[in-house]
Amino acid sequence: MKTFYIETFGCQMNAHDSEKVIGTLVSEGYRQVEKPEDADLVLYNTCSIRDKAEQKVFHRLQQFKKEHGKGKVFGVLGCVAQQEGERIFERAPHVSLVAGSASYARLPQMLVQLEAGNRHVTGLSLDSEEAFDTPFTRRDNPHRAYITIIEGCDKSCAYCVVPFTRGPERSRTSASVLNEARELGAMGYTEIQLLGQNVNSYRDPSPAGWDFAGLLRAVGEVEGIRRVRFITSHPRDFVKEIVDAIEDNPVLCNHVHLPVQSGSDSILERMQRLYTRDDYLRRIEWMKSARRNISITTDIIVGFPGETDADFEQTLSLLDQVEYDSLFVFKYSRRPNTPALAFDDHIPEDEKGRRLTIVQEKQRAIQIRRNAELRASIAVPLLNRFSQQRSHPIAAADRYRRLVDNDAVIECEVLADAASRLG
Ligand code: 5AD
Ligand code: SF4
Repeated sequence: MKTFYIETFGCQMNAHDSEKVIGTLVSEGYRQVEKPEDADLVLYNTCSIRDKAEQKVFHRLQQFKKEHGKGKVFGVLGCVAQQEGERIFERAPHVSLVAGSASYARLPQMLVQLEAGNRHVTGLSLDSEEAFDTPFTRRDNPHRAYITIIEGCDKSCAYCVVPFTRGPERSRTSASVLNEARELGAMGYTEIQLLGQNVNSYRDPSPAGWDFAGLLRAVGEVEGIRRVRFITSHPRDFVKEIVDAIEDNPVLCNHVHLPVQSGSDSILERMQRLYTRDDYLRRIEWMKSARRNISITTDIIVGFPGETDADFEQTLSLLDQVEYDSLFVFKYSRRPNTPALAFDDHIPEDEKGRRLTIVQEKQRAIQIRRNAELRASIAVPLLNRFSQQRSHPIAAADRYRRLVDNDAVIECEVLADAASRLG
C-alpha cells in the first residue's frame, strides 16, 4: 500500500486543509504514517505569512532530503506553494508536486500524474469557484470539528500575502455548512469551529443570502453541539449582530479574536485596514457592554514601514484601553507582491525587536493584573458556596486570603489556581 507523511505549518485554515488532504489521500488508497522515513510521499503544507515561516519549509526540505530522501516523492502544498509556484522546482529539485489550496479539489488527478512518474505536477490556479469541500475529511480531534465557511480574502491589507496565496473570497452555501454541522452533531462532536480568513464577510451564495451573524445563530441551534467558536474576524466587517447572537445563546463561545494590528490611525490607513482606532474601539465597546463577559484577543504588527515612536505609543495606549485577554505580536515582515514593499521608510530589525519586547511586557503586566482580579473574583463565590455546603459561616467578604477556615482557604486557592490557569 502507498504511504504518505504530512507536516503542517501555519494557521488553523491550513490545519483543516491538511485534514481534508488526508481524507482525500486515504480515499485514494494511501495510508498515513507518523514518520517521513516510512513514507513514499512526503508532503509539507506550508505557510508564508512571514518570512520565517517560509524559510522553515525550505530548511525542512533540505534537511530531510539529505538524511532520508532517496526514492521518495516530495510535495509542497499551501501558501508557499501558491506564492513561489514553479520556482520551487528550481530551489528544491527533489520536489515533484507544488499545489496551492485553491487546487486541492484536483488532488486525485494530481496523484495519478505523480504515480505515472510525472516529476513536475502543479496545481496553482486561483480561479477555483468553489471552496474545497470534501466528504473525506479526516478529523483527529474527537470533540472539536472545524468547518470552513469562507475561503480566500478580498481585502488588500498592505502587508499581507493571503489574497495572493488563497485567492478571492468564496463562501459556502448555508445549506452545505448546516448539513455538515448537523452530521458532526449526529456523529458525537460537541464543538464546532467555523473557519475563514475573514468569517465576518461571509455571504451565503444561495438565494437565502445569510450573513455571518445569521449563520452563527443557526449553527448554535444544531442538535448535539455545545460550543461554537469562530476565527478570524476583520474589524471592518464585525457587526453588532454578532455580539447580539453571542448574547442570546450560551452555546456560542464568548470569545472574539479581533486583530487590530495597530493603534495609530495613520498606520491603519497605510496598512489599508479600512477602519480607524475609533471604529475599532466602538466594536470593543459593544463587547464590553454585553451582559456576557466576552473575552477579546488580538494580533499586533510592530515596525510597519513608517511607524514612528508616536504611532507606536498609540498602539501601547490601545492595549491599556482595551485590556486584551491575550494577544499575538509580530515584527513586520516583507512579503512578496504586497503593496507595503513599495514603501521606502522600513524600520530597522533591531528597532522592531525592541518594540516587540515592549508590547509583550506591557501585555504581560496587564494579564498578570487581570488574572489576579479574576482569581479573587472566582475564589470568593467558590468560598461562599463552600461555606454554605459546610453550613457554617465564613467571612468571605474580605477576599480569600484573610478568611478564617484554613481548609476552605486551601481548597479555594487550589480551585482558584486551576480556574485562573483555565481562564
Ligand atoms: N508581517 C508580520 N505579521 C504579519 N501578519 C500578517 N502579515 C504579516 C506580515 N507581513 C500577522 C497579522 C495577522 C496575523 C495572522 O499575522 O497580525 O493578523
Ligand atoms: Fe499562513 Fe496565511 Fe496561509 Fe494561513 S493563510 S497558512 S497564516 S499564509
